[in-house]
Amino acid sequence: SLEVEFCGRLYENPLMNASGVCCMTTDDLDSMARSRSGAFITKSATSTDRAGNPEPRYVTVPLGSINSMGLPNKGIEYYLNYVLDRQKRFPSENPPFMSVAGMGIDENIKLLNIIQDSEFSGITELNLSCPNVPGKPQVAYDFELTDRTLKSVFQFFTKPLGVKLPPFFDFAHFDDMASILNKYPLAYVNCINSVGNGLYIDVEKESVVIKPKDGFGGIGGEYIKPTALANVRAFYTRLNENIKIIGTGGIRTGQDAFEHLLCGATMLQIGTELQNEGTGIFERINTELLQILEQKGYQSIEDFRGKLHSI
Ligand code: DHB
Repeated sequence: SLEVEFCGRLYENPLMNASGVCCMTTDDLDSMARSRSGAFITKSATSTDRAGNPEPRYVTVPLGSINSMGLPNKGIEYYLNYVLDRQKRFPSENPPFMSVAGMGIDENIKLLNIIQDSEFSGITELNLSCPNVPGKPQVAYDFELTDRTLKSVFQFFTKPLGVKLPPFFDFAHFDDMASILNKYPLAYVNCINSVGNGLYIDVEKESVVIKPKDGFGGIGGEYIKPTALANVRAFYTRLNENIKIIGTGGIRTGQDAFEHLLCGATMLQIGTELQNEGTGIFERINTELLQILEQKGYQSIEDFRGKLHSI
């Protein structure tokens, strides 16, 4: 089977949506709940609702996607009400994950205080890697700010917490970020958010394809799989064993999922291809991944997770 244990709970399979895709409204979230994903997560929330950037702000391109959504969301209370309602109605199910993305350290603390003081019993993802709000640099590219944020958070936050990281491209950065993360009782790190501030061009129109930020936006999909796998592997080999990895980036097939698991991921998130294909993707990837396990003679994901060979 594809069963996985994560943060002391059992999940039928490791697949989830990546936050941002199919999770803005209660209808989106209900369709995730009905799907064959093992778990699901809400859109990154801020303290109050936001309209986000002008459209077009998400475009599917041949090898993936480019987006500059600008954190449109319905506000923390909307998503908290949704997950609390599900907890009451389905007490034996795993609660949804909640994602939060404050626009600065104070807002992140405020959002996490609201979750801490609620009845929410699930897992929270602190998004340190939104690349799309004009004038707001990604938190996790500022190592000192990341350290200070986590230090403040763990003064009061006692529920399971993970962080969503942007991609890193240098061993010095993998080393320095991992040493910071290893100081804290994190449940997981999620590698990776989109590759920030790419530029896709329509050659015929000689034009950018999204309106915000003069066309610059986060890149997802096939373009980013090698960077995603590198980040999963780099953090898997550097972090304490009690900090799990969620692998996100370029998962379109069962083989892509297998590659992330081989690098050390425990759960897997799908963004671009979920947007393209809809929630039917979870059944397809579960089937493809199970077929790979059978071909290779593995009984469970634990037989190979993290066991990437060196040469
Ligand atoms: C948005 C994009 C992200 O990559 C993210 O992590 C959070 C928000 C956005 O543009 O809405």
